[in-house]
Amino acid sequence: MHKHNYIIRREASSDIQAIDQVTKAAFASAAYSSGTESFIIKSLRANDRLTISLVAEEEGLLIGHIAISPVLISSGGKGWFGLGPVSVIPSRQGSGIGSGLIRAAIDALRELQAAGCVVLGEPSYYGRFGFKTDARLRYLHAPAAYFQVQSFTGKIPEGTVEYDDSFNVTG
Ligand SMILES: CC(C)(COP(=O)(O)OP(=O)(O)OC[C@H]1O[C@@H](n2cnc3c(N)ncnc32)[C@H](O)[C@@H]1OP(=O)(O)O)[C@@H](O)C(=O)NCCC(=O)NCCS
Repeated sequence: MHKHNYIIRREASSDIQAIDQVTKAAFASAAYSSGTESFIIKSLRANDRLTISLVAEEEGLLIGHIAISPVLISSGGKGWFGLGPVSVIPSRQGSGIGSGLIRAAIDALRELQAAGCVVLGEPSYYGRFGFKTDARLRYLHAPAAYFQVQSFTGKIPEGTVEYDDSFNVTG
């Protein structure tokens, strides 16, 4: 077993290239990947939509990253965000680093007094961080089971969700 010597902190401008590499490495071996995750992160940053960007650093090396960006709700609900992409380098996957990044990102959203967060991904994985499917808030571009939500206020708006335009970049 590997020792857990990593820290989680906000990105610095000197991390940008390493974040790109961590993202590419993580998704190269992922079952579901658009191959555009690193471009999405760059575009979010360039368009000032990278609300939260946290890195996991171990002995000076970046081993993980998570991005959070605002989402739009059709009914006008404010203060909702999308979690992801989240990446851990292949050699360190399955040792809790992704969970640490997800929990830290959710804590940071609560600090910002966000209304809630959505996520697209494996339901059993994200369910452990408080995400659930909810019929009121829908995403039309993926099977319903893979889209989950978490409210920080107890209220869930009715409507459909769209991620930032940066999620459509292809290069
Ligand atoms: C998904 C990812 C960020 C999780 O980080 P991690 O550090 O490997 O995960 P953790 O160690 O915190 O959690 C491990 C647990 O989650 C499960 N798990 C990890 N990735 C999973 C996935 N993609 N789907 C389902 N379960 C997953 C593991 O089976 C393990 O379960 P267990 O605790 O019951 O044994 C990481 O595996 C990764 O970078 N994957 C490639 C990129 C990707 O698919 N990102 C998510 C889509 S945005």
